[in-house]
Amino acid sequence: MIKVTFVCLGNICRSPVAELVFKKLIRERGVEDMFSVTSCGTSGCEAGSSIYPPAAATLKRHGVAGSHTARKITRKDLEDSDYILVMDDDNMRDLKRVASESEQKKIYKLCSFTSRPRDVADPWYTRDFDRAYADILDGCTAFLEKVSG
Ligand code: 4NP
Repeated sequence: MIKVTFVCLGNICRSPVAELVFKKLIRERGVEDMFSVTSCGTSGCEAGSSIYPPAAATLKRHGVAGSHTARKITRKDLEDSDYILVMDDDNMRDLKRVASESEQKKIYKLCSFTSRPRDVADPWYTRDFDRAYADILDGCTAFLEKVSG
């Protein structure tokens, strides 16, 4: 079982979208039994909240089902995950502060697996939810390719 944890700042926009997109990809490819997938935030500022409505609407438009309740990352997430996939350099910096040396090696930027490594810009600020969705889909597809061959 490969344990994958998607991480952003608030866990109401990018990382829950990544969690649900990745779950759809592994379902479609019939490899869902290979993975355990979750998401969380570096901050607990939105803990308990549902997916931010514009992000949820973007998922719905693309036929991605599911829901998520925001939560802050825990020590157990850092210890248990095989891959901790962050959205941007800020997430990376925040996690590296609290991760042990061995845990740091499990942290990657989601789009680092693509042919065009980049941040997933935060749609909370850019308001560009379609762009974030496209970057996340690209990152999740490339990551799945890497881990499942
Ligand atoms: P996310 O976006 O990290 O993609 O979930 C944000 C959501 C909420 C806030 C910041 C970013 N906030 O400051 O509340």
